[in-house]
Parts: sequence; C-alpha cells; structure tokens
Amino acid sequence: MDRAGGQELGISRPDDVTTWVPDGIDLDRPSAARLYDYLLGGAHNFAHDRELAERFIKAQPNGREIARHNRSFLRRSVLFMIEHGVRQFLDLGSGIPTVGNVHEIAQSADPTSRVVYVDYEEVAYAHSTMMLADNPLATIVQADLTRPHDILTAPQTRELLDFDQPVGLLMAGVFHFVAPAKDPARIVAEYRDAVVPGSWLAFSQFTRDLMPAEMDRVVEVMKSSRDPMYPRSHAEITALFAGFDLVEPGVVSTARWHPDAGFDDGDDPDRAGIYAGVGRKR
Ligand SMILES: C[S@@+](CC[C@H](N)C(=O)[O-])C[C@H]1O[C@@H](n2cnc3c(N)ncnc32)[C@H](O)[C@@H]1O
Repeated sequence: MDRAGGQELGISRPDDVTTWVPDGIDLDRPSAARLYDYLLGGAHNFAHDRELAERFIKAQPNGREIARHNRSFLRRSVLFMIEHGVRQFLDLGSGIPTVGNVHEIAQSADPTSRVVYVDYEEVAYAHSTMMLADNPLATIVQADLTRPHDILTAPQTRELLDFDQPVGLLMAGVFHFVAPAKDPARIVAEYRDAVVPGSWLAFSQFTRDLMPAEMDRVVEVMKSSRDPMYPRSHAEITALFAGFDLVEPGVVSTARWHPDAGFDDGDDPDRAGIYAGVGRKR
C-alpha cells in the first residue's frame, strides 16, 4: 500500500505518516476528504485517492479550480460572519486540515473565536486532532453530520459553543454527499432550530446547472468512492435556506459570492461549478 509515495506527483509528503494515518483505515477505498486534499495540493492522501482524483479531473478538467474556489468561498464567508459579530463556528464536513482552516481565519481576526469541526473521515479526524492538540478553543467531533442530534449534544460541542449566542453554521462543499433519502432539508432545519436568530449559515454544493455534462461524469466517477455525489439545482439549494434571509447576491457560483476586491481569475466564474450562499437566521 502506498502510504508515503507521491513525490512523482510533485507533492511534498508528510515526514511521519504514523502521526496522521489512523490504524485500521481501509486505504483501498478512496474518500472525498482525501480527494479534496489532493485537489488542493495537500499531502494527506493515498494512491487510490490520487487515482480517483485523476479520474475526477478527466471528468471535470476544472476540478482543482473548483476546489480552490470552494475553499476561498469558505474563507470569505467566515470573514463575512466575523464582520457581523460571529465568534463561534460549527464547521460540518470540515475536511482534512489544509490552507486556510476556519479556526486560523477566525482566531486571527479574534483569538477568542471558537470552532467545532465535524467530519466522519478517519484521516480528517486524526489530522485535525493532532493540529488542534494545543488549541483549547477549537476541537473536532468525529461524527456523521446527517445525525444532527449526535453533534449538537456532543460534550465537545456543548463545552465550546454557547447556544445562547449566534453561531456560524458552515456547510461548505459537503451536502453533495448527502443523499436525497437522508432528507437534507430536515438536516439543515435541525441545525437551524438549534441556534438563535441572528445566527448564520454558509452553504455550498455541486450543481448540474452550470456544467451538466461534466457533472454527470463526476457523479459516475464518484460512485466508486466512499462518498457518492448528489448535485442539486439552484431551486433545491435555495430551498435549503428556509428560515434564513439570504444575503446578496443570493445563491450564485462560489466565484461570484462576494469576490475579493480586484478578483479576476480570467475564467468564466460559473466554471467554479459549485453554488454558494450565506443566510441569516430570522
Ligand atoms: C469536499 S470536503 C469540504 C471541506 C471543507 N468544508 C471545505 O469546504 O473546504 C467534504 C468533507 O465532508 C466530509 N463529509 C461528507 N459527508 C459527511 C457526513 N455525512 N458527515 C460528516 N462529514 C462528512 C468528507 O469526509 C469531507 O472531509
């Protein structure tokens, strides 16, 4: 099994895999967390993840840009919430720590900011635990976000987050892994109902609307991973903001949501492939 290979891909590998590769992990089954890590140029992925990523990029040649645009939307949405007074975040489907983690963004704006990360993937959990060992104001819960009760009642969540104050709910790049049968509207609503009015939701997910042929190919590719994908339309994603007032410009491609000043990627922003929006709970 390739635990430390990858130099041939020009990626720097972590020196000591024993610090981040959990025991008993099935390295043969690629995961979305490790695929995304690879697309972002990270080093916490295995041979089968990289193979999947190369098939993903064949299906959707803009794969790396899409990942970067999504990550950049996450950063801008956190800064937006910080500007609006939010100092605590619940980051659902947080992924393997990489450039621009939520606690880094939030705590560099205000060192008292608190962050609870949630991911069910073993490498994401192990690496986050290691990274946060000396950070008393950030933690990770290893759990399935489709079971909101487990997460909202977890001791780490109750310890760090004050549910009498506004919370920034972050659901970036994750609901395309939530099957319609899981009832995504119910899941979002359970998190919404747990936070006070004036709390925020940042949400992004893949759609067929912007690049249908590429999206159909990606859905096929992802069937061989642990995390099959379910793209949603503009109307379906907008409906998930029930109970929130969407801020301008509403649900748009990640590249169009409050782009940084002077933003010009020389590309069609709709090729960012993922819809994104931010809303404030009524
Ligand atoms: C594409 S990454 C997004 C990471 C980060 N939110 C971002 O936008 O940069 C999606 C993450 O969601 C996690 N994930 C998918 N379904 C999940 C579920 N039901 N419960 C918890 N985590 C989940 C995956 O393991 C992966 O790490």
